[in-house]
Amino acid sequence: MIPDDPLALLQKHVTSESLIEHCVATGAIMRAIAPHLNEDPDLYEVIGILHDIDYEIVSGDMERHGMVGAEMLLQAGLPEEIADAVRRHNHHLFSDHSTPLDLCLQSADSISGLIIACALVKGGAIEEVTIKTVKKKMKDKGFAAGCDRERIRAVEPLMDLDLFIRSAIEGVTQIWMGSHD
Ligand SMILES: [Fe+2]
Repeated sequence: MIPDDPLALLQKHVTSESLIEHCVATGAIMRAIAPHLNEDPDLYEVIGILHDIDYEIVSGDMERHGMVGAEMLLQAGLPEEIADAVRRHNHHLFSDHSTPLDLCLQSADSISGLIIACALVKGGAIEEVTIKTVKKKMKDKGFAAGCDRERIRAVEPLMDLDLFIRSAIEGVTQIWMGSHD
């Protein structure tokens, strides 16, 4: 079963506000992309929100990141489908992503920080962030350097990159209003 309040579950284990924002933004992007892949927006959003649930617990140990998160979610009664996506999103351990879910999570996880950084550069005015802004910043390797450009492109075999970027911006916009006015 998909949990009703994935954010509450996340907040039991994550305290960093920026990490929570990253997770919520990743969830919003997953929700926005799912219809383009004929997938379930609710399922995709929950996976996006929960994908880094173990981040503070493993404190940077990339050998355990995702593995621990998957166990935590199974313990909380979530289905293997969600736990497995969280386990597999760690690209240091898994590089054979091929399903729409795995590929979408790679891209959403990586572009969320870039879109947030673009909005912050514009003083929080996310409505000014366009496909052009994001593509320009993707080329600027020094900007939001932690956002892996190659991972952003993971979804490209499944959908047009411009459509992905546009939908991702729309997704982040949905959660941005209210938290940054
Ligand atoms: Fe992440």
